[in-house]
Amino acid sequence: MESPLLNIEDLSISFGTREVVHRLSLTIAPGETLGLVGESGSGKSATSLAILRLLPASARITGKIELNGHSLLTLPEESMRKHRGSSISMIFQEPMTALNPVMKVGAQIAEAYTAHHPGETRISLRNKVLQFMRDVALPDPERRIDDYPHQFSGGQRQRILIAMALINRPRLLIADEPTTALDVTVQAQILHLLKDIRRTHNLSMLFISHDLAVVSQIADRVAVMQHGKIVEQNTTQALFTNPQHPYTRSLLASAPTMHTDPTRPLACP
Ligand SMILES: Nc1ncnc2c1ncn2[C@@H]1O[C@H](COP(=O)(O)OP(=O)(O)OP(=O)(O)O)[C@@H](O)[C@H]1O
Ligand SMILES: [Mg+2]
Repeated sequence: MESPLLNIEDLSISFGTREVVHRLSLTIAPGETLGLVGESGSGKSATSLAILRLLPASARITGKIELNGHSLLTLPEESMRKHRGSSISMIFQEPMTALNPVMKVGAQIAEAYTAHHPGETRISLRNKVLQFMRDVALPDPERRIDDYPHQFSGGQRQRILIAMALINRPRLLIADEPTTALDVTVQAQILHLLKDIRRTHNLSMLFISHDLAVVSQIADRVAVMQHGKIVEQNTTQALFTNPQHPYTRSLLASAPTMHTDPTRPLACP
């Protein structure tokens, strides 16, 4: 097997005496998308923040997190900063809060780039921003580059954040509930975009959601989390056809499918 891009072994995270992630292990191969599902509070975001070393100093972290065979947990902060937004980037649930409301979107995308590549000429920077605005299918980039975040729709704002996340050509994209705040049609468009760019940019992706139906549309494999532990991990296909853990079964039972009877209430996990 190809060596993994991301390798997490025995990761535990505690806040005070409370352990919120317990001995979690997972790998993501180059170009692979791993879905991480689980109920609210199961430790999904804590895990993703640990990868980026963005947890507050009060968090106690043990175990191993490696990117391309290099340990991230032991890196000096200065080197970690070089990885963040460059080899690993992240998109979040709420695109408005991640954008600066008083800064033009083109300037924000440019800043994501210059943070890691200082000294780019203005013309080439502008062209790069336009190119990435086109890559994420933002309409009419030349005209919109100097607009402010509030002048875009929710789905377009998420596209802006995806452009910012991609502009340094990361190897790994962490997407934490990237479509949860969007309505169903827009959600489908963003999923479609993520699938596209994953291929064109040869990205590995950690796709986090509480919604198994959403995850199954994009993930090659799925890890199911409950109370800080991965209770089951399998290819998406196998997880759906042959779920082993009762919690996975309850998630499947509560997910609407093409065959769900719309007149009956869904089961609660
Ligand atoms: N900074 C923090 N200080 C103390 N506890 C925290 C902190 N961050 C997270 N926790 C706790 O860790 C647990 C896991 O939180 P986490 O945000 O990872 O859940 P999640 O699976 O992402 O949930 P959701 O689906 O709601 O986003 C929760 O019980 C949460 O209260
Ligand atoms: Mg979360």
